[in-house]
Amino acid sequence: MSKKILIFDTTLRDGEQSPGASLTISEKVIIAEQLAKLGVDVIEAGFPVASRGDFEAVRQIAKNIGDPVVCGLARAVDTDIDCCWEAVKYAKKPRIHTFIATSDIHRDEKLRKSKEEVIRSAVNAVKRAKSYCEDVEFSPEDAGRTSVDYMCDVVRAVIAAGATTVNIPDTVGYTEPEEFGGRIRTLFEKVPEARNVVVSVHCHNDLGNAVANSLAAVKHGAEQVECCVNGIGERAGNASLEEIVMNLRTRSDYFDAETGINTRELFKTSRLVSNLTGLGISRNKAVVGQNAFAHEAGIHQHGVLKSKATYEIMRAEDVGWSGDNIVIGKHSGKHAVIALLEAQGYILSSEQINRVTEKVKELADKNKSVEQDDVLAIAMDTLGQLSEQEQRIRLLGFSVTTGSGMTPTASVRLQIDGEEKRGAGLGDGPIDALSKAIWALIDPSVQLLEYNLKAITGGTDALADVSIKLKDMNGRIFSGRSVNEDVIKAGATAIINGLNRALNAREPRKEGGK
Ligand code: KIV
Ligand code: ZN
Repeated sequence: MSKKILIFDTTLRDGEQSPGASLTISEKVIIAEQLAKLGVDVIEAGFPVASRGDFEAVRQIAKNIGDPVVCGLARAVDTDIDCCWEAVKYAKKPRIHTFIATSDIHRDEKLRKSKEEVIRSAVNAVKRAKSYCEDVEFSPEDAGRTSVDYMCDVVRAVIAAGATTVNIPDTVGYTEPEEFGGRIRTLFEKVPEARNVVVSVHCHNDLGNAVANSLAAVKHGAEQVECCVNGIGERAGNASLEEIVMNLRTRSDYFDAETGINTRELFKTSRLVSNLTGLGISRNKAVVGQNAFAHEAGIHQHGVLKSKATYEIMRAEDVGWSGDNIVIGKHSGKHAVIALLEAQGYILSSEQINRVTEKVKELADKNKSVEQDDVLAIAMDTLGQLSEQEQRIRLLGFSVTTGSGMTPTASVRLQIDGEEKRGAGLGDGPIDALSKAIWALIDPSVQLLEYNLKAITGGTDALADVSIKLKDMNGRIFSGRSVNEDVIKAGATAIINGLNRALNAREPRKEGGK
């Protein structure tokens, strides 16, 4: 019988550490619900001590998610572990994941602790976590650059202290597949008691090896893989969930292993995460990229028409990909919109679908033809809208004057935390003037880093899609997005969307936060 590989999803913790990927609490709950539908075994929902928002997100996911284990991250210190338990304790299956760095460079430069001190902290952390919760995971951070003997000493000690899962992270994505697989093999040889716990791996993608390293570890006995949807995460990201899962499934002959993932939910999950984080997916991304099942070369097309198996090793429908090009016209109703959104992996509430349908009809009335990309842009805009409570800044009105031989000027009326404010600005162009007018009313420590404008479909009446990035005083990056027929309104609302996200995540992350 093939062995079961547990899928530990850390999209909401390590994945959310991607610059610009910060999610609101309700967006995290929506993703967690989809991860449960996808069939992941463990959801790492966040790092509760990092901020009030992280704590609340983990608590709400713990309260709302049924089947998977809900896990929170904690450094190997009492306050983190206590806080983590307060957040995960509502889950049907709670887990505390505690970690401390073990490589020489991290011990000497970051922690300034001896090897013995690190082992003592690790053991104390596992014992404290164990006093709350049966299910405790421990990670020796930067294990990929830790001497194998010392890593084995740490693992031996935490297993004796009660850890039920031991995770071996390649924190900086430094190792090569054979080397990392060999490390797991040696671990089982030197610490036979590791066979009584779950040995997990967590690989970063700095050299592009995250998936290959994780799979090499599976070949040598690892039973849990930590990964993120679309491979998002710190720096170059984490191992991509969909690639791990489809490798294990497509090459089950080689791995003799299987996962509990419902692969037909992969495409939908991928699009949901991309839409909510604002992190796009490259067209040629394995498994879920737009081109993953497209054939360009004539010789390939000829082969595929005769038999798909000539050039396709996976079936598009097995990953939930639908290439159907559903046409939306003036008379298309809600069902056509739903069919299109479902086919493209968009998950919206019925209220959101009504809003999208209404906007599509409005646009069709004005614009004659509405293309598929217009509908998807409207859906993305609707998904990115914040709840009433989260919209602390609202655009009440604006005016912009521009022309040849004159300086563009703008005035804006905002409601900020219930209070109406008016601002004015001059700029190099109309958008610049409008953004100066907005900035005259808000915290100047938040900076606009990027402003991207795209026309969705051709023509002068095309929808304008604006996406922006902001940086707050703690260096955290926030995205904002808006779609509108009026290019200036799209710009103003995208900036305000980003500002609200920054405002809702106000408290600083704690020092040393992962
Ligand atoms: O990359 C890493 O080492 C981590 C640990 C907390 C598991 O994210
Ligand atoms: Zn990591």
